[in-house]
Amino acid sequence: MTVADISHRRKFLAQGNVYLPHIVVIDRIIDETPGVRTFHVNFKDERLREEFTFESGQFGEFSVFGAGEATFCISSSPTRGGHLEVTVQRAGKVTNALHRLGAGAEIGFRGPYGNSFPLDLMQGKNLVFVGGGIGLAPLRSLIWNVIDNRDKYGRIDIVYGARSPADLCFRYDLDAWNKDKTINIITTVDRGDEGWTGREGFVPQVLEQVAPSASNAVAIVCGPPIMIRFTFPVLEKLGFTPEQMITTLEKRMKCGIGKCGRCNIGNLYVCRDGPVFSYAEIKSFISSEY
Ligand code: FES
Repeated sequence: MTVADISHRRKFLAQGNVYLPHIVVIDRIIDETPGVRTFHVNFKDERLREEFTFESGQFGEFSVFGAGEATFCISSSPTRGGHLEVTVQRAGKVTNALHRLGAGAEIGFRGPYGNSFPLDLMQGKNLVFVGGGIGLAPLRSLIWNVIDNRDKYGRIDIVYGARSPADLCFRYDLDAWNKDKTINIITTVDRGDEGWTGREGFVPQVLEQVAPSASNAVAIVCGPPIMIRFTFPVLEKLGFTPEQMITTLEKRMKCGIGKCGRCNIGNLYVCRDGPVFSYAEIKSFISSEY
């Protein structure tokens, strides 16, 4: 796998006025944690419902009318079509406005933007997913995608953690993956509560204990910046090369299509060159700029 292999996976759906959002309707809302919700949305336009496609790892610009626009990855898998899912942490004006909406409300969507996870390069490989908190959202799209094409991939290990049991997202997915005998899933929390009987410890430490083999493997990492920074050295210690490590970065974005310069990191634009990068691409600046 080379750096270029990942970088050129950029897909633009840009046709006509690229800043013009399509209307999507909120069908369903799932409370993940006290501050995180997953919204199931669908295009109001029937033609778009049928024709819209995306790939795991891509993102969209979602707008709440009167409040503004914000960037979120698509957290559902293209293999489970019919609607899009977006998982949103309440953190500012747009996300607060989104959290106030109910089923039936209309919001704007433009995308999908960015590159995607290199599925063809992952075929035949053992996959190690490492996620923290809401960082499971983009991984989840990929994990379901892989599960729905299970015979194309080798062993699957998932190490997922959150600060506390209440901060674990996608519990329904964690339950389903736990029941799947072809998946080895380890869930951990930084600090448990009285009801928690699972593992305690930070994700990078637990990953080191689990020690998945680097042989014929690819590690896909997403979580808070600090978790990502501490996870890469652990993977290197386990024998993973920078080309065997993939992550997806989140940066404050505006245009989403490489025009405004807002998402610059090192010599890259996260929206245009990513958001999916190999560690080899970002290693030189990840600790100082992310
Ligand atoms: S968000 Fe505008 S250049 Fe990336």
